[in-house]
Amino acid sequence: MDRAAQNYQKYCTLCHGADREGGAADYAPSLKSKSLMSTMPLNFLASSIGFGRPNTAMAPYLADSGGPLSMREIFTLASWLKYKAGHETIELSMDPIEGDLKTGANLFTQKCAECHGKKAEGITAPALANPAFLAFATDAYIKYAIGNGREETEMIAFKKQLSDEQMNDLTAYIRSLTSGWSPEPRELSPYPEPKDYVSNPAGAQPDFSLKQDRYVPMEQVAQALKAKNRMVLLDTRTSSEWHNAHIPGAIPIPYYISEDKVAKGLPKDDTWIIAYCSCPHAASDKVIDMLRKKGYKNTAVIDEGFFNWINAGHPIIGGTPK
Ligand code: HEC
Ligand code: HEC
Repeated sequence: MDRAAQNYQKYCTLCHGADREGGAADYAPSLKSKSLMSTMPLNFLASSIGFGRPNTAMAPYLADSGGPLSMREIFTLASWLKYKAGHETIELSMDPIEGDLKTGANLFTQKCAECHGKKAEGITAPALANPAFLAFATDAYIKYAIGNGREETEMIAFKKQLSDEQMNDLTAYIRSLTSGWSPEPRELSPYPEPKDYVSNPAGAQPDFSLKQDRYVPMEQVAQALKAKNRMVLLDTRTSSEWHNAHIPGAIPIPYYISEDKVAKGLPKDDTWIIAYCSCPHAASDKVIDMLRKKGYKNTAVIDEGFFNWINAGHPIIGGTPK
């Protein structure tokens, strides 16, 4: 239990908050609400941590996916979260729920899209069309969340304003967004060596202008990359995300690295060190703060974050070159 509490502190507080209340960064959900913790089975909870939610800031933490935690550590952490929340388990039916997709889709646009996104891709609320979410969430789990909301969050209990039939229609609609997904063990790439940390070591010094003495617009970084300028790029997300895809030349320095290791192998001269994450600032800020404390001056954070970098069409490279 002590180890699980330490792991929560090290890996999760950044986004889910010191007391599991959610919302510390990136609209991460609460991990203590009664409705969530009483209906999410332990294996669903552990899978959410181990496999993450693809294409959201929730990364896979399982070692097989390139993350920092073993299966056993993840189950202990999941059990600890349940224990801390202290709510009794509500057993929900495994049966499918039938409903009308068209009515469900219309209701979704009217009542849900402003937070969950037009295509349920997630904006300020979790992505419901997420393949990993739908692979584990049963119909009854989804309906229960709609009806009962999530205590102390923006998600209200809709059973006060929707009929049972309307909630069935919504559940059926969300279920219809399933795309088929199963976790696959991944081939992991070797980590770069310190001698490869600097991109374009012989290149010219880039010309960055920072906002608030810290944030560099992604266009300037993309330009510097194109011009083959000398710099170091730090991917501060969970290491599994680096294996998934990263900016070419970026090295994995995750936000949970310890202070005595963070600067290992980094040049301490005028070379620019640029960090990024998907949060889009929380993880990078943490790493850049550590480096500045150690006297690294030419340091900055990509302002828009990794998802906007991808959406703008800037180059990324997959973990497995194949
Ligand atoms: C005002 C914003 C808002 C609206 C409107 C809203 N939600 Fe939510 N919803 C949220 C937030 C925020 C969460 C996550 C809460 C938490 O756990 O911290 C959430 C959680 C959920 C979950 C649980 C997801 C999970 O991972 O367990 C479901 C299902 C859901 N909402 C469905 C709906 C549906 C269907 C509607 C429309 C009837 C709707 N929501 C409307 C904000 C909203
Ligand atoms: C960089 C920010 C970030 C970090 C760090 C992070 N999470 Fe998350 N987490 C999120 C976001 C954002 C979501 C919602 C994703 C979505 O849209 O479905 C989420 C979703 C979850 C869910 C699903 C909850 C639900 O309502 O469906 C669980 C469980 C979870 N995280 C546990 C953890 C644990 C445990 C850790 C530490 C090992 C952790 N997370 C670290 C951002 C983060």
